[in-house]
Amino acid sequence: MGELRGTHVPVLLERCLELLAPALDRDDRTTVYVDATLGLAGHAEAVLAAHPRTVLIGLDRDTEALAHARARLDRYADRIHLVHAVYDEFAEVLDGLGYARVDGVLFDLGVSSLQLDAPDRGFAYAQDAPLDMRMDQSTGTTAEEVVNTYTHGELARVLRVYGEERFAGRIASAIIRERERTRLTSSARLAELVRDSIPAPARRTGGHPAKRTFQALRIEVNRELAALETALPAALDALSPGGRAVVLSYHSLEDRITKQALAGRARSTGPVDLPVELPGTGPMLRLLSRGAELAGESEVEANPRAASVRLRAAERIEQDGTNGTETTTRRAARERPRRVAGEVRTSGAGVADGSGAVRREMPRSPGDGSGTTVQGEG
Ligand SMILES: C[S@@+](CC[C@H](N)C(=O)[O-])C[C@H]1O[C@@H](n2cnc3c(N)ncnc32)[C@H](O)[C@@H]1O
Repeated sequence: MGELRGTHVPVLLERCLELLAPALDRDDRTTVYVDATLGLAGHAEAVLAAHPRTVLIGLDRDTEALAHARARLDRYADRIHLVHAVYDEFAEVLDGLGYARVDGVLFDLGVSSLQLDAPDRGFAYAQDAPLDMRMDQSTGTTAEEVVNTYTHGELARVLRVYGEERFAGRIASAIIRERERTRLTSSARLAELVRDSIPAPARRTGGHPAKRTFQALRIEVNRELAALETALPAALDALSPGGRAVVLSYHSLEDRITKQALAGRARSTGPVDLPVELPGTGPMLRLLSRGAELAGESEVEANPRAASVRLRAAERIEQDGTNGTETTTRRAARERPRRVAGEVRTSGAGVADGSGAVRREMPRSPGDGSGTTVQGEG
């Protein structure tokens, strides 16, 4: 294992700890916490330190990240299980370790700074590297295979859907032209092709011109959205009553999958006009975040990775069925997600799902330098 490259600051750490605490602090028993995207174990270490009776199950598909996490969590070795797995194997991993239920789950999606900063892994458009982009370098298709074998239509779709790239067709054409001349193998050459495909006025807005193309290829190479669509329901189903899940997304498509998975389970599936809940039709979750929470300005300033984060969280509730006193639906309505206190500072940080964004700065926890904002639902 080499030296750790770059520095990794866990995003919305204090807010994640605050949300997970009630689920992990149980007087009567040891609790189980799954970090489905262990990375460099920044969040995991803080959870283990805050909850001395919590057992961690940490998953990552990247063996290099796991090795760093193992070294970092050395002093907690007697209560951690670190597993090399894609998180869509969530249920199998739990099964293999003999756990039926878990009390807390965190998904901190996307790539780690270890991956982004690695000069040899091809995630970064700012440095030249072989076009790999696999989070798990032991298996799967590389970005080089994608750019050299996909048809024009397939490439354009990947760039448009996963990168929200307006010039997807032009970039796909440039890639096809280049590979007819010579195989495309370098991230610097790809970044150059992308820059040259985007009209000059558009290049001056929206960050580095290759950012969206690299994000799109990374999502495609790692099948990130399909894995999340499987993993999130499995994680929510595994929560014990009172258990909590927190998801940090960095892309509107990830956030949409998360929103749908949580909202779908926070609704009654029974007939709307019945005064009482039918057995098995009550909501399974109570939403803990009102819309998606964003990082506050102070955190974004200190940690640019926090700029695009959207946090959603939910708690598993008991299905209480038919006793006729108070239905789960009515109780869920009474226990609304808490409002984030504080001053409304700005608004209009638009998102792709069409919801209006309201930025509310949270009171800061001492020393953490972070704030939280809430993005209201449209
Ligand atoms: C943003 S980092 C997590 C950082 C971590 N919370 C910390 O504080 O250090 C995301 C991690 O999730 C891993 N990852 C991404 N998709 C995954 C998947 N489908 N299955 C397992 N691990 C995944 C990546 O390899 C990366 O190490």
